[in-house]
Amino acid sequence: MDLLAFIRALPKAELHLHLEGSLEPELMFELARRNGIALPYASVEETRAAYAFTDLQSFLNIYYAGAGVLIHERDFHDLAMAYFQRAKADGVVHAELFFDPQTHTARGIPFETVLAGLERAAQAARKELGVSSRLLLCFLRHLPEEDAFRTLEQAMPHLQRIHGVGLDSSELGQPPAKFQRVFARCRELGLHLVAHAGEEGPASYIKDALDLLKVQRIDHGVRALEDPALMERLARERIPLTVCPLSNIKLRVFPSMAQHNLKQLLDLGLCITINSDDPAYFGGYIGQNYLEIALALKLTRTELVTLARNSLLASFVTDAERAPWLAKLEAVANS
Ligand code: ADE
Ligand code: ZN
Repeated sequence: MDLLAFIRALPKAELHLHLEGSLEPELMFELARRNGIALPYASVEETRAAYAFTDLQSFLNIYYAGAGVLIHERDFHDLAMAYFQRAKADGVVHAELFFDPQTHTARGIPFETVLAGLERAAQAARKELGVSSRLLLCFLRHLPEEDAFRTLEQAMPHLQRIHGVGLDSSELGQPPAKFQRVFARCRELGLHLVAHAGEEGPASYIKDALDLLKVQRIDHGVRALEDPALMERLARERIPLTVCPLSNIKLRVFPSMAQHNLKQLLDLGLCITINSDDPAYFGGYIGQNYLEIALALKLTRTELVTLARNSLLASFVTDAERAPWLAKLEAVANS
């Protein structure tokens, strides 16, 4: 079996995927036409050519603008359904998906419209594709904590359909401490907790996300390597890191894939997973992320199995849901 076929055959969970970041230019143009919205680009090709980022903020500016074509329940459904089809092709059996309600409610789109479209797609994916999923609501960290509290209020009637919360958007200058109260409230409500930390921000943000926000996973977290004591703790406590290789290259967290620290993190005993973050903007879905990092760092098939196994173990599902995926993974590993 060639390497890409092997990667796709591994049952895996995707744990770090922003649904708004899976908006391909083709769908962006279709939705713009459907909704009578003018785009700043003349064509799909011109749009892709504009995806030359220098850092996280340069990406976020384009990503938030792109999300402006999402208006109706059907738009959110179509967005998520397109992602599920790509994920299925890459062997994703389970996805824990971020959405950014504040990006939409700030434009006057009701919270319920966003959630209804995503939820309908999740149900169809389960039934038609056999892909299971959960939704994680992300708070935008460049906005005040009061805004996050208002978003949580809007989410309250729908908590059976929201499995957890995350923290995303501009990291530098937006420390975890800013969101300590809203995360404490989410914890009381029984929601799962994750946060982006140590992508562009310092290793201390990872520590603060654990100690102040009490998160169960760290999104990105690659800068943990700068703090040996933190590394030791992440390994000992088996705190999963949701690493996104193509994202890290496109946003210049590392100068090249060969210089990515994923193998060092793995060798030091951390629970590392591979994910696609914003695949429509960064040049590939989860299979491509596995493939490019495997080739650049010469990862063995055993290491790829470990990465896929980590993703299943790090997901917020029950042991009963996880068991058949793990069994299938071991079967592929031993084939
Ligand atoms: N929102 C979407 N992708 C993100 C990323 N990689 N970091 C922070 N916020 C994001
Ligand atoms: Zn992200």
